[in-house]
Amino acid sequence: MRPRPALCGVTATVLLAVGGARAAVPGASALPDVIPMPGAVVARPGAVAIRDGTEIFAPGGAEAARIGAYFADLLHASHGLSLRLRTRDDRRARDGAIAFALDPQAPDAAPESYRLEVSPGLVVVSAREARGLFYGAVTLWQLASAQPLRAGAVVLSGVRIDDAPRFRWRGLMLDSARHFQSPDFILRYLDWMALHKLNVLGWHLTDDQGWRLEIKRYLRLTRVGAWRVPAGAAALHDIDPATHRPRLYGGYYTQQEVRRIVAYAAARNITILPEIDVPGHATAAIVAYPELGVLEKPPTAVPSDWGVYPNLFNVEESTFTFLEQVLDEVMALFPGEYIHTGGDEAIKDQWHASARIQARMRELGVSSEEALQGYFTARLGVYLAAHGRRQIGWDEILEGGVPPEAAVMSWRGVEGAITAAARGHDTVLSPSPTLYLDYRQGTGPDEPPGRGTVVSLEDVYRFDPLPGPLAHEQSRVLGVQANLWTEHVRTAANAAYMTWPRAAALAEVAWSSASRIDWQSFEARLAAEFERYRTLGIRYSDDVFAPPRSVGTYERHFSQDLRSCSGRLVLNLEDDAPLAGPRAVFLVDILDPCWLLPAADLTHVASITAAVGQIPFNFQIGKDRDAIHLDPPRTAAGELEVRLDRCDGAPLAVLPLASAADNDAVTVLPAAALPRQSGAHSLCFRFTQRTLDPLWAIDWVQLSQ
Ligand code: ACM
Repeated sequence: MRPRPALCGVTATVLLAVGGARAAVPGASALPDVIPMPGAVVARPGAVAIRDGTEIFAPGGAEAARIGAYFADLLHASHGLSLRLRTRDDRRARDGAIAFALDPQAPDAAPESYRLEVSPGLVVVSAREARGLFYGAVTLWQLASAQPLRAGAVVLSGVRIDDAPRFRWRGLMLDSARHFQSPDFILRYLDWMALHKLNVLGWHLTDDQGWRLEIKRYLRLTRVGAWRVPAGAAALHDIDPATHRPRLYGGYYTQQEVRRIVAYAAARNITILPEIDVPGHATAAIVAYPELGVLEKPPTAVPSDWGVYPNLFNVEESTFTFLEQVLDEVMALFPGEYIHTGGDEAIKDQWHASARIQARMRELGVSSEEALQGYFTARLGVYLAAHGRRQIGWDEILEGGVPPEAAVMSWRGVEGAITAAARGHDTVLSPSPTLYLDYRQGTGPDEPPGRGTVVSLEDVYRFDPLPGPLAHEQSRVLGVQANLWTEHVRTAANAAYMTWPRAAALAEVAWSSASRIDWQSFEARLAAEFERYRTLGIRYSDDVFAPPRSVGTYERHFSQDLRSCSGRLVLNLEDDAPLAGPRAVFLVDILDPCWLLPAADLTHVASITAAVGQIPFNFQIGKDRDAIHLDPPRTAAGELEVRLDRCDGAPLAVLPLASAADNDAVTVLPAAALPRQSGAHSLCFRFTQRTLDPLWAIDWVQLSQ
């Protein structure tokens, strides 16, 4: 890590005040160590010391008391202090007292707004609504959390903060379908979101690879649809003694767990937006209930490939009845205004080819498959509206014609949002790649698996939430959302790492006024932010402070240090083995298994070795698969061929893969001699192989003298 940025704003002021050298200048503006940056911040004279036994008053009833207790819990977690909660309406100022005051009559208060005043001997957080008061508590804890405990006290310097969000939708989406996270992890994720004033958790609960929400009327959705054999040889060899078959991966959320999660979120001012993805991404549901599908021979196992499957729901009345009954249970569990019905990536090949679907289209008077998706979406939208809910879908729903009440979540860039707003729809911006948290955020070999293109913290921070014409259509923009898709995010620890601190950048984009957006200021506040993460046990990336990586000739060149021959950066993929413990991560171009080591001085190099792994080729990429060129092997197991400067011509060295053939994890190949060269050259690496599966990948290469 680079040295930490200098302490700034209120932090420095407090240290000075405690030292007695100088008091804060009344009326001066100060930038507190708070993310997202609050609206108006004015320094005040004096300071407050919070210590064991400091009293919290909570005039305003049970909600205020609950928020007071929430603050007390946070301060206990960060500093070990025990505050005393007084629920009677008593605002007597005494040393260090903290008041949480709900005032429903407060004039001119924006939704979710709060005021926080630290003056000598007294902290007052006030708001018209409980959610505003909650955010005041969060800001107060952030002010405190940046301070060390000194002589048993946290000292806050005088300040007045008036704050309200820029957007009402400040979302994260978590894909629990591709990989399942425990209910406990979901609760932690909600905790972390709340501390960033994020207020919508999009919950992607259904997809081809898993159905994760218990539906009482259709128990096979989870009994069957929540379980799959993971891809790869390692998983295939992992036999479950109970079934004598490969062990199944999966899980689902019971309705009881969901109710607990929804209530926990509500207490943190977070609405959970459930997504039931239709008509595509439907394979798991169709495996559970084949009558929902289009094909005469429907898929019989929940699949483990990534990419876009062609399996769609059919459009029988019985299928709509099924979906309405599913939505009944969804609405009973999730009280929020919006229900997400997906709509993305529904390739229409099966609808096009099916005589039955074509007959239904004629019956329904629908002229194209796109319009059929419009009909499909509208049916569910009407059903939701009849039950007092609003529909939201991915931007593809615009293609089929969709009722004006439906809101549109723009993911294929921001164009969907611009079109949606122009047509009178409310919209949420969650464009790929900038707000897709499955893209890696750094380039080091320790970066967890994800998509290959780098989306840095700064990229997220600099995202413009009102691009182009939306600057004039602000009223249509509900807000922004970052999406954590989890095809390549297998573990909870990696889900946290991919999220933080990029979701903190998103939080500031979503909350703070445009005039507050300032990368240098944000970067300077990260030291305090990372301290909070360590306090709370949040795994996060500190790549923003990583020095540029340079690798010497005789050091290991990891796959992340090589360049793909195609110039594409496709995927940073995890090995499928070992089943337990850390796995290697390889940057791979699944369309062209070819890598370049940029110019290295080969003058004294005499030999070369490489560590290689084999990973399942589990990608639904349609016709692209036919275009992949494979070099034929010379031996049964194939070879890693090394060429000088370019990727054609005769190999300079050949490393046989025989020793790696039966190892699911990483194998260090025997070294091969490299004929002497002089000066700097690049080296090209290509595997020879007969089949795409498994896909060979380089973990590292090493040159020796
Ligand atoms: C999506 O990324 N398919 C919404």
